[in-house]
Amino acid sequence: MHDFHYYQNELYCEEVPITKIADEVGTPFYLYSFHTLENHFKVFDSAFDGIDHLTCFSIKAASNLAILKTFINLGGGVDIVSGGELFRALNANVAPNKIVFSGVGKQIKELEYALTTGILMFNVESSSELTILNQVAGRLGKKAHIALRVNPHIDPKTHPYISTGLKKNKFGIETTQAIENYQAVKKLEHVESIGIDCHIGSQITELSPFVEALRKVKELVQLLKKENIEIKYLDLGGGLGITYQQEQPPHPKEYAEVLIEEMKDLNCTLILEPGRVIVGNAGILVSKVLYLKQGTEKSFVIVDAAMNDLIRPSLYAAFQAIQPVVNTGGEEMVVDIVGPICESGDFLAQDRKITCLKPNDLIAVMSAGAYGFTMSSNYNSRPRAPEILVRGKEFHVIRERESYGDLKTGIPDSE
Ligand SMILES: Cc1ncc(COP(=O)(O)O)c(C=O)c1O
Repeated sequence: MHDFHYYQNELYCEEVPITKIADEVGTPFYLYSFHTLENHFKVFDSAFDGIDHLTCFSIKAASNLAILKTFINLGGGVDIVSGGELFRALNANVAPNKIVFSGVGKQIKELEYALTTGILMFNVESSSELTILNQVAGRLGKKAHIALRVNPHIDPKTHPYISTGLKKNKFGIETTQAIENYQAVKKLEHVESIGIDCHIGSQITELSPFVEALRKVKELVQLLKKENIEIKYLDLGGGLGITYQQEQPPHPKEYAEVLIEEMKDLNCTLILEPGRVIVGNAGILVSKVLYLKQGTEKSFVIVDAAMNDLIRPSLYAAFQAIQPVVNTGGEEMVVDIVGPICESGDFLAQDRKITCLKPNDLIAVMSAGAYGFTMSSNYNSRPRAPEILVRGKEFHVIRERESYGDLKTGIPDSE
């Protein structure tokens, strides 16, 4: 599953002891295994070998160029949701015809950028976006290739914040309005529909929501055929979950098998937008214990990583496994593992049983590769952590630690 393992009680990433990296780069830091990244992409992508497909890694999960290049070198495309992600993708040398652009609020300058780049398709999420895209494409003398993102009303049985395919969610176009929107596209001079798209949510640990969603989309493809609207690409989004704690998500092979079976008679290229399943367990966050504090009701381990570094526990009440980097065994304690930020919501774990820790001990927050660094911020004016990539016996700093100099924004030079 991943390349983080103990050797003589010390946690390694591939062949590098994590203590060695901490000594050289300081803490906290994000750490990724190149072998795990590559292996996860290959396992996922090859599971779809039986059909025409394109695996577009969802950049929002992990956007470091070194990580993106790993997948692009293996033939992958990307799913983007902003001009910034397009910029990163192009800098990682992805072929424009392997880029799909999702998102409910694309700005005009982002539409212009993507049209000039010549991406594969825009996943359009509303009729007003269609109107604007047509105008912008006309002004630039371009034709925008699009898929409509439809909202199939499927409960993905995940956290409400990462559930996107329900009626109450802001995403996509109602399936009941899809046909009329495709008909409207026919009348637009600078837009051509080539696909259909849906993404129902993230960290989905069952197959049935994917199958249900695909069946609904298939019905639409068939209806569109009758209207002489040909769909070349069916984009099913991302969403396959990973094990953070006890979850038992389907293996990508099982996921692929059921989708391939459903796609049999469609004659479409299947596009997939996986994020978490590729990078989630390929990265960890390493942090150092600063202080121990005994409250009257709780014991706290205060570490140097905080919610600005990894927001998932605070935002989604998400569980992240936490392990000592050097496992001395010995007694266990039940503690809250918290950061230095001035919010009671700043915690990495609550009421967690862990081997007794002391100041300067290192901890590894596991499964932090997806939506970890990409959701980090400068809250409390904390410089962002560096990102490190291990490959075999070597490690590389793929993003430097931010310095106080990086926080100087807003101060006029003359003052
Ligand atoms: C449109 C779209 N595609 C793909 C993804 C990637 O999802 P995941 O990381 O769960 O595979 C997301 C994330 O929510 C998304 O919004």
